[in-house]
Parts: sequence; C-alpha cells; structure tokens
Amino acid sequence: MTSATSQSESVLLENLDDDMIIERYIGFIDKFTSMDEMTCKWLQHNFKGVKAGVKRADKTLQLAIEDIQIGDMLLELHTFPPALQKLTLVNQRLKEELKKRGFLEFQVKRVKKHLTQKQISRQEAVIKSSELISKAKEGATISKGATKAVSNLIDDTRDGNMEIGEVSAFVENIIQSGSTEAIGVIASLKKSDQTYAHCVDVGAIFHSAYIQLLKGRGIELTPDQKHEMLLGAFMHDIGKAKVPKDILDSTVRFERDSREMQLMQSHPVFGAEILTSMGSSDTIINMAHYHHVKVDTSMNSSYPQIASYDTVIMETRLIAIVDVYQALVGRRSYKKSWAPPAAMNFIDQLSGIEFDIDMWMSFYQIMGKYPVGSLVEMNDGSIAFVVQPAGEDLDRPTVAVIRNAKGEDLTHNTLINLVDEPEIKIVKDLDNYEVLGENSLDIFTNLKIS
Ligand SMILES: [Fe+2]
Ligand SMILES: [Fe+2]
Repeated sequence: MTSATSQSESVLLENLDDDMIIERYIGFIDKFTSMDEMTCKWLQHNFKGVKAGVKRADKTLQLAIEDIQIGDMLLELHTFPPALQKLTLVNQRLKEELKKRGFLEFQVKRVKKHLTQKQISRQEAVIKSSELISKAKEGATISKGATKAVSNLIDDTRDGNMEIGEVSAFVENIIQSGSTEAIGVIASLKKSDQTYAHCVDVGAIFHSAYIQLLKGRGIELTPDQKHEMLLGAFMHDIGKAKVPKDILDSTVRFERDSREMQLMQSHPVFGAEILTSMGSSDTIINMAHYHHVKVDTSMNSSYPQIASYDTVIMETRLIAIVDVYQALVGRRSYKKSWAPPAAMNFIDQLSGIEFDIDMWMSFYQIMGKYPVGSLVEMNDGSIAFVVQPAGEDLDRPTVAVIRNAKGEDLTHNTLINLVDEPEIKIVKDLDNYEVLGENSLDIFTNLKIS
C-alpha cells in the first residue's frame, strides 16, 4: 500500500484528525509559559529523547528535553524518537490525552492512509511493545529498590522491629506507575537472589496475573485492595525472617529431615504468625501459610501438613505456581536458570498433582507458552525476544528480532507477529544468559521496535 504525504500545516487541537501525524507541538496552556519544577520533570519523564525549543532570558534555545529549566517558556517540542510514536500518531485517545495535558496547537503532516487492518494492528503492536519496553526499564530500577526494602524488612523483622513503611511505599509506587507486568517480564533477564528479589518478582508476577484473571471474571479491585494484594504477595515468605540467616542464605541443599530443612520448611507457619500479629487479612495470611501445600497433600514436598487442600484458597493456589515459576526462571549465583517456556512446560507436567489445575490453566492463558521476555530462535536462525503474548495460536506470539539469520546484532528490532508470517516459526527457546550474558536485561530494555 502506498502513502502519500503533503506539506506541514498548523492545526488546533480540536482539528486534529486520524490521517495526521504530529511533527511539532507548538501551542501550550499558560503553565508552560514559565515552567515550574513539576512541569519540567513531567516533560522530561514523558518526552524522553525529544527536542524542545524554549525562550530563556529573551534568548530562543533548542535543547534536549533534559536540559530545560525552571522558568523556561516552552515554544515547541519536536524530533520525536520512534519509541514515542504514541505521541505523534493522531487518534482519539491521544487527542484526549493532549487536551488533558494542555497542548493546544500542532504542526502536522497529512498522510493519505490506505492502511490494511494488518498494518493498523501492526502499528498498534509496535506502540504497545515500545510502551512495555520503556516500562520494563523503569521497572528494573523500581524492583532494585523494592528488593532492598524487602531485605531491610526481613532483617528488621528478625531483629524484632518490623516496619513496613518502606515496602509499602514501593508497593504504592509500583501500582501508581503500573509496572507490575513489566517487572514480571524482566524476572528471567536478571540475577535474582532466592529470598529478597524472589519476593519482589513473585509479587509482581502474581499481582499482574491476578488482576488479569479477575478482570476475565468481571471483577475489578479497588486501589486499596490492589495495594493489599501486592504487599501481601511481597510478604508471602516473610516467615523467613525467623529462619537463621546462615540457613536462609545458604546455597547448599539440606538433607531431608535435617534441622536446617525443618527450619526452612517452617517459614510458612512463621509467616502466618507474623502476619496474624500484624492484623493482616485472612487472604494474605492464607497465602503465606499454604503456598507450599501441594494438591496431593501427602507429598514430601508439601508443607505444612494439612488435612485437606480445600483450606488453600484461590489466591494461594496461584501464588504457589508463581513461586515455583520464579524460582525456576530467576538466575541465582549457584544455579542455571530455566528459560521461561521450559519452566511453563515443567509446571504443566505437574499441574493437577502439585498445582491446582484451574489456576494453572488461567496462568498459562495469561503468560502463554512463550511468556513475554523469553528469548527464542527462529527456523531461519535469527534470534528474537517475545514482546507480546500469543493469541489463540500459542506457538505464535509477537517477537522483536535482535540478531538476524547471518548472526548480526540489530540496532533496530523488527516486530513480527508470527500469526502473520506462517513461514517463520520458533524452533527453540534459549537461555538468555548463555546467549547474551550479563547484557540480557540491557538489551531487552533498550529494544528499538519498529
Ligand atoms: Fe515460600
Ligand atoms: Fe517464595
């Protein structure tokens, strides 16, 4: 399909149309006349990589957005990087957003569009994936901070002065920035210790899956409930605060029935005690108490011993799956990690025996056979990251190619929805650490999808 472009023209917000692409933002409400700190920060956060024209002490300057200052008068925003296409491709959602933010006038190019449905959905997928990538970058920083906070919480609880304020602040931050999904996506791409980062990654994956699962059932949580569930998921292993640190941080496998193993396996009971004394809800207590209980409660790996699996509520059944998934995909200093598709396959084999089958099916549907963040090899030898889960055909997610068939690393990553390309298929899931080493997370969070 061809697209013909015409000269630029200036239009007001209300005249923006779907066949336009914004080249410059040129008219603003008053608050941009002498910008305060919040306005500068907001622009710098949302317009990364964009150039700004400002008036400063009677001089007109063209600057990178990070160089704007308090007091500057904003004249224009231009040179949008591809990752910010969502701020230049006109649609109803963008118009509403622009109105809310006080952008009034634009320089636009009219594009005669004859886009097929396929091209439109591709464009949408590029935008959605680019959004996820930039969230993942933010998520990597937030999860580092949250891990430190969880580590402090466990240490303080061990010393008898539990203080959940710091963790609670991270929970609020993560929910506000909507980054649970992104934190979950990068869980397999970075190093993770078995206790602290584990809690954060499990919490994020659980939370994002739980919200989606409830959404599928027509249920939406209140902000308070969302907060409570993420905090609760972070604290599913809080009982480890009562396990001596040398045992907790040990990387050797303890003998069955050893004192060390008994102590480790007491963490769910300890956790339930701690959370009860804190006045946590029954749901949160159940999650800490029973997340190691298996469907077949007579198994050796099922603890604490309880009479019936009926005691284990839905949320706990879900976090039990996420707990094992994270333990498999997280890279520890002493063990190799599993590729996410291999971990999914492993848990699939155990569903119904160890894991609740209904919860497993919901989780599988949400994550897909190839979870987002998986590194895969295609039949032409190219290597790609999964960036959007598959639809009905589970073998065909949407991927971004990072290395072509000739083995060359790409600086721009082509998006391929495998449903649209029947001749291309995934032949192997790869261990990202083996292929990309320590750079996996960096490469993923710097994908330039086009
Ligand atoms: Fe646990
Ligand atoms: Fe755990």
